[in-house]
Amino acid sequence: MLNPSFTRIGLSPIVEISERIRDLAPRWEAANGGKFAFLQRGELADNTPAYITRAIGEAIEAGLTRYPKSGGEPWFKDAVLARLAEAGISDVGREHVLCTYGGQEGLQLTFNLFAGGRVVAFAPTWSCVLENIAPYGNYTLDPVAFIERDGALEIDFAQVEAKLPGADLLYVNTPHNPTGKVFSREELSRLNDLCLKHGVRIVSDEAYEDFVFGGARHVSLLEFPGDHIFSVHTCSKSYAATGFRIGYTVCRDANLISKMTLGEYTQTAGVVPFIQKAFAVALTSVEEREAWLRPLMERFGRRRELIVERLAPVLGPGLYRPEGAFYFFLNLKGLVPEAPAGTPQGAFVLQRFLDAGVAVIPGTAFGGPEYAHHVRLSFSGIEEEQLGKALDRITKRVLG
Ligand SMILES: Cc1ncc(COP(=O)(O)O)c(C=O)c1O
Repeated sequence: MLNPSFTRIGLSPIVEISERIRDLAPRWEAANGGKFAFLQRGELADNTPAYITRAIGEAIEAGLTRYPKSGGEPWFKDAVLARLAEAGISDVGREHVLCTYGGQEGLQLTFNLFAGGRVVAFAPTWSCVLENIAPYGNYTLDPVAFIERDGALEIDFAQVEAKLPGADLLYVNTPHNPTGKVFSREELSRLNDLCLKHGVRIVSDEAYEDFVFGGARHVSLLEFPGDHIFSVHTCSKSYAATGFRIGYTVCRDANLISKMTLGEYTQTAGVVPFIQKAFAVALTSVEEREAWLRPLMERFGRRRELIVERLAPVLGPGLYRPEGAFYFFLNLKGLVPEAPAGTPQGAFVLQRFLDAGVAVIPGTAFGGPEYAHHVRLSFSGIEEEQLGKALDRITKRVLG
């Protein structure tokens, strides 16, 4: 009999759509002229900064090519501690840090540490948690939808409180994929209090911690005391390093981190040591990080403004302006036609975008049929000029 965990999981719609357009994009370009716009993936088009790739070569030459220390090398953990100290978190030690294969493995190990059950999560929810991490860990996902009010996304605290009793985990993701909401300190503090009251552990997914706009500030749940919080981090986004697969998870319960270390030993033996070395350099090179992130965020900020400028007149006050990450989650109800009978609305909306030479992710990838008129648009991998052209096609051919 197949392990039921494997029968419950599927390929992320994001990966599926990216595969599909590999063939479709060149055909569209040949037929239409112009460039197909890849607004589907949460991945930077920029290369990993050279000071990091150089460090990989040096680490290989220095012989860091043997079995790793499961859970992370002490010097990698020290680099994480230095990075956390920068954010004012200094009451953690090596025993509270686990080096993982990206944020994804951090989430998977955290979820799998417990026996499964029920995880409360804000909806819409990152598709991988919905389709993979939660079902693989034998959890049912209990969604709490954000309340859309006056251009803001608010937390329905009454619903959270109603759902927490008897739940095993609360999954919080700030900055949030797919909406771009950045949870405020006050919101996180209230969520933390509710979790403490009901004895629920928090999984805090901070993959987009370095991507905040305007006056927004990322607050880590680790800034709150307690050993019920797992904060899951990744180098994928902050260092344009999705292919290196490295991240780290932090929890103040050293016993649980040592259990997760055994889990990691069992499944992979640990993260490739020369990659750990290069990202230990990345985490501790504060000036290089600033020099890389500042211009990057200026470019991202301009892309975000361009989208607002072009779409606000069409979407009106319903357009939510992301404060973080690099996505817009657009509600196109009333702006796109209804699907003909027999065609799912999400697939129909996606096809309109693909016909216009733009790849996006249908909203249903992040929740149920209530998101059939939504799409997630990512501005992480497209320069302003091409983005402008894609937005022209969206307003004229998709919404027109
Ligand atoms: C919300 C969220 N969490 C975690 C991740 C994990 O990324 P990785 O496994 O590449 O570190 C992603 C990647 O897209 C994400 O969107």
